[in-house]
Order: sequence, then structure tokens, then C-alpha cells
Amino acid sequence: MSRFFDKVIGDPLNRVDGKLKVTGAARYSAEYQLPNISYGVIVSSTIAKGKIRSIDSRAALRAPGVIAVISHENAIKVPGWADNEHPTEPPTGGRPLRAFYNNRVYSNGQPIAIVVADTFERARYAAMLVKAEYDTDKHETNFEENKGKAVVPAVVKKNSKSGLADYERGKADGYKNAAVKLEAEYVHPTEVHNPMELQAITAYWEADDKLVVYDKVQGTKPTQQAFANEWKIPVQNVRVISEFVGGAFGNGLHNWPHETAAIIAAKMVKRPVKVMLTREQMFFMVGYRPYTWQKIGIGADRDGKITGIYHEAIGQTSSYEEFTESTLQQTKMMYTSPNLGTKYRLLPLDVSTPIWMRGPGEATGAFALESAMDELAFALNIDPVQFRLMNHTDTDPDKNLPWSTKYLKECIHAGAEKIGWSKRSLKPGGVKSGEWLVGYGMGVGTFGAHRGAAAVRAKLLANGNVVFQSAVTDIGPGTGTAMVQIASEHLGLSPDKITFQLGNSDFPQAPNQGGSATVATVGSAVVATCKAMKEKLLAMAPASDKRFANLKLEDITFDKGFISLSKSPSVKVSYTEVLKKQNLSELDVLQDSKPDQEASKYSRYSFSVHFAEVHVHPLTGQVRVKKVVSCADAGTIVNKKTAANQLIGGVTGGIGMALQEDAVMDHRYGRYVTKDLGDYHVPVHADVPPIEVYFVNKPDYIVDPMGTKGLGEIAIIGVAPAITNAIFNATGKRIRELPVTPDKLI
Ligand code: MOS
Repeated sequence: MSRFFDKVIGDPLNRVDGKLKVTGAARYSAEYQLPNISYGVIVSSTIAKGKIRSIDSRAALRAPGVIAVISHENAIKVPGWADNEHPTEPPTGGRPLRAFYNNRVYSNGQPIAIVVADTFERARYAAMLVKAEYDTDKHETNFEENKGKAVVPAVVKKNSKSGLADYERGKADGYKNAAVKLEAEYVHPTEVHNPMELQAITAYWEADDKLVVYDKVQGTKPTQQAFANEWKIPVQNVRVISEFVGGAFGNGLHNWPHETAAIIAAKMVKRPVKVMLTREQMFFMVGYRPYTWQKIGIGADRDGKITGIYHEAIGQTSSYEEFTESTLQQTKMMYTSPNLGTKYRLLPLDVSTPIWMRGPGEATGAFALESAMDELAFALNIDPVQFRLMNHTDTDPDKNLPWSTKYLKECIHAGAEKIGWSKRSLKPGGVKSGEWLVGYGMGVGTFGAHRGAAAVRAKLLANGNVVFQSAVTDIGPGTGTAMVQIASEHLGLSPDKITFQLGNSDFPQAPNQGGSATVATVGSAVVATCKAMKEKLLAMAPASDKRFANLKLEDITFDKGFISLSKSPSVKVSYTEVLKKQNLSELDVLQDSKPDQEASKYSRYSFSVHFAEVHVHPLTGQVRVKKVVSCADAGTIVNKKTAANQLIGGVTGGIGMALQEDAVMDHRYGRYVTKDLGDYHVPVHADVPPIEVYFVNKPDYIVDPMGTKGLGEIAIIGVAPAITNAIFNATGKRIRELPVTPDKLI
């Protein structure tokens, strides 16, 4: 059940594409059946580091239906790739892995060949017949053993002002002089996105210099640009279609080798080639949340005022490409502390490259920070809710700017009440339910409220309907639905008259769907386009009724498809009549939008707080999450149903992070032993309790004209520590290494 502090702007419109999805009519990247299509299956390296000595594809080529076996030995040269070697350790920023570029192997599972056949089954069979011989080098994949080899990220070496550079406010180690202090280390394992839909691409060369891809990505325009660069063809000669995405969580924010492998193959066999990864390949070919070690030193005076925080993180990356994330950002801005230091390092290993995964960086960092806050509150004998409120900051201590909006205190108060915080005992193990120990915990989350530039087209048709277009994708939050609602509000038309088309690079510019910025970015462009359309309609209206002459938008009401004088509503004309009078079959408007300069005078963040009640069995160590209450300050809520879905989904991911998810590698081979959803556990229904979500729903007009702030990331950030803090409250056991599996509690 979801409740709200306040009314939301629109009714909770059902998903505009819901019926297509539940009836199977929605087509995902692997579901496009082009004429003469062929199927590609990727062959992976079985060593973690070294050189391919030879590839024997003779048996595969003799197998029925096989069209080609492509590897570095025979692959065509991708023209955009300069003819130089891969960078080696230590990375200099590096670059993405190039499919079939040379004989070098950088990680176990790396694509080394693709087998193309007339059916998927035949391609899969023949792929098993491809044999490779290697010259093997010694690999390093064990994070803990190599921690001492962590390096300063190249991005910091290039730019000392990078947000990832070492940071000091007051004294970095000032916490050491505090009356009460603690130092602790936290470990976050590798996590894999594992969306339901497997990564897939169908690639097709319409002409020698014209490429079409149906590709599972989070941005059609960035992908279009990437492939145009690779193939040195005009950007408009690449079409990227990604109309439906079955979850992504960040792994569609990068272009991966299997995509280029399919494009190379399509060019060589002169037919469309479809490649869909296996679930196992999803573990090492399309990114993951990196293994991260963190250390926190934190101190306070005896009254509970924080006097110093020091936070250090080392994240894993590959040997050939640097991946960084803002693990430490929230530590810089979340609490008042006169002394503060952060230090971020990377550990390159012989593994594939990580990528952003929901709440990237912050979700990992919040586990350490919010755990340490709970630990220090306990040491001070202060209630953790009170401790957060005592150290709350009304301005951003990092940027020295006012917040655009911040309703975190309101969230904390509401959440504490709804979870029943007053039942909590300050002493661990103080509450029981039968044999079970009962604990309550909380964690705070934050993420930048970003907005980028985008353009949106709208076409008013003769029948009064409006079709909007944007290249943006929808990875699941319900982007089309929210955009229809914003358009409905700003154009004065009921939602059923509005269609929002997306997921096609032919449509106007939109960035990746990522960083919780889509509603702010594309929604603002929808607002701008609606305004431009209203101006055009008003300019044409005097032809229908002279009383509309020489008026401004402020004098006019646009409602239910009619333009009327605000002061005299009976003077009105319909949008369709305006078109008719001008002999127009449609009215086409294209408008772009970018953030205001004014916004940079403020620090813009979304905030969340998560409260968890857990029951722990003292004999078995089993943890049952009994209830979660999450409160979000994400500005205006456009659609309370889809927003609640987002928050519930994020909390579910947070339960996985706290208790289950762990990609375990066998370091003898540098290969994951967890490689399917049987071994790599994600929460299922039985693991997920009732999740109550609440929204402050107060607009932030500094961020964008709708007053929205991002929601996707803060849905997960702070969830894992809320659960582990609750486990401590139940058991007195502080587990600093995720996930908290039963063996760690007995
Ligand atoms: Mo998100 S991690 O920006 O898909």
C-alpha cells in the first residue's frame, strides 16, 4: 500500500504500454524477425589472461547450417579502430574491449569468436565445436590479495579537480581526536544486474554504409553515435531501435563487445545477425557492480555532534578500461562535520569492465556510511534517528550552496512513525517475537537531481490527437506514461489523446536513460514543446476568432482541446478548428530544452530514507525482512503508481544487496561459479515483505519546470544498511561484509 503526504499532479494513469507488455505484443530486441535472418552465438575465452595461439573452426564449419565462424583471425577491420595495441596495466583510462581485434585475452569469458548459422540451435551447437589454444599468462582476479596495488584513477591524474580526487575539509583525519570514535572496514561483493531480459542485438546492414540495429540499450542516440564512430559512417546512417527494454539497471549504458561482434558478422555474412547472450554470459560480458572495499573513520563529541569523517574506497576495474563511480560523494554532503576526508582508488584486475548499477557508487558508499552512522550512534548510546537529525545539514557543506529543496527531515519523521520505531529497543536483542529476534534499522540515501538537454517533437493531428517523439528509452520506470501525463497537463488534452513514441534514434535527441534524470530531462523538453505548440495555436487562432488577436499565453486557457480567453471562457475555439481554418493537416513542433544557469546556484539532490524491520532466528541465522517503509523526497510525483513501483523495485534490489547477491569467482580460473539465477540469488516474492512507500511530493522548480527530482537511484541507496543495521539491532552482530548470509550470523 502506498500513501502520500500530499496530492500528486496527475491521476495514477495506468502504464500506456501495459497492455502491449502483458499480452506479449511488445517487441524486445531479440524478437525482430527480419527476412533472411541468421543467428550468432558468441564463443568465450576459457582463460583469464594470455594470447590465443590458434582457433580451430573446422568442425564448426562442417556442422549443419553454419554460415561463418569469425574470430580475430578473419574478422574484417572495424574502420574506426586505430591500428594500435590495447592499453595494458596500469590503465590510462583505457578503452572498451574490441571484439576480435587481436589475439589478446584480458578476462575469462571474453568473446573470441562468433558462430553464425541459419538457426539459433545450429549456431549454439557449432559454437561448442570451436576449439582455441592459448599461451596463458598468470592472471590476478582476487581483489583482497591485490588490494595493495590500487591506483589513483587516470581521470584524477588528468584532472586534479575531478570529483574523485582526494578531498579534505578541515582535517581529513580529524575524527581521530574525537571523544567517541570508530574505524571500520566494509566489503561489497561483485553484483550483477541480471535484468529479466537478456542482452540482445539484431544487426542488419541495409547498404554498405547503412546500419540498422535492434539493440537492448539505455540510449539510442549515444549508441547511434558510438556505432557511427566505429564504422566511420554518417551518424544518420545508423538507426538504433530499442522500443522496449526488459530491465537494465545500468548495463545498457555502455556498448559491449557482443554488439560489435554482431555488427561485424552481419557485414561479413551480408545478412541480418541476431545475438542474444546467455544468462551465464550476462555475468561477464555486460558489466556489473564492482567489488568494493571501504574504510570509514568517524568521530563525535559525547553529545552526538560529528567532528570528523574519513572515508576511503577501492573499486575494482578491468585491466583495459577504467570504470569509476561516485562512491564517496554522499559522505561529502550528507552530514555536518568540520573535518572530512575522502580517498578513492581503483584496482585493475584481469576481469571484464564493471558498469553503473542502480544507485551506482552511492548505494555501495551508503552501505559503509550509514552502517558507520549506526555504529557510532550505538557507541554514543543515542537513537540512530536522533543521531541523523542532530547532524542534519541545512546547506550543502561540500559545495557551500543552499539546497534547491531538501525534505529529508520530513522523510525521517514520517518513516520512523510508519515503521513503528518507538517499539525499537536501543539495546540489541531487546525485542522478540516467539523464538525470533526482532530488530529495526534505518538508512539514508541521496543522489544528484540531474537534468540534461533533450528535444521533443509533437504533432497535432487533424483529429485532435497529438503524437510526441523522443529518442529516449524506457528501461522500466514507465517513461512514456509519465511523459503522456506531463503533456496532458501542459497541453490541456486528456491522456487518451496523446501518444508518446520513444526508443528510436530517428526521433529527437535524448541522452541515455540513466542517473535518474529522464523525467527532468525529457519531461522538460515535453513542457517546452507544449509551450511552443500553444504559442503556434494562439498565433493562428485569430483567423478563427478575432478576439484572440494580440494576446499572450498568460491570457489564454488551454483545456480539453480548446483555446479560450481566461477572462471570458465562452470565447473559445478547438485546436482542430484552428488547424482546419489554416488548411493544415497537422501541426508539427520541435523544441529543445536544457537546464537553466540559475540551477547552478543551488545544490540539487533527491533524498530517501528506508526503515526495515527484520526477524532473525538465533539458531539458524535466517533473516526475514518483515516490513520496509521508504520515504522519498523526489520533488513532484508525476504518477504515484509508477513512482511507487520504482521505489518498491529499488527496495527489492536493496534486499538482494543486503542478504543475497554475490557473484563468486573461482580465482584459479578467474571465472564465476555463480552463473545463473539458481546460484546467484535475487529476491523472489517470498523474500520480499510488504513495502510501504511515501512521497513528500513537494515541487523543486530549481531542477525543472515540473518540479521533479530523480527517483530511480534513491530507491535502492540506503536500503542495504537499513537491513544490516536492523540485523545488528536484533542480534548485536555487526556484519560489515555483504551479503549477510546465515553463516555470518551463527
Ligand atoms: Mo542507472 S545505474 O543510471 O541505469
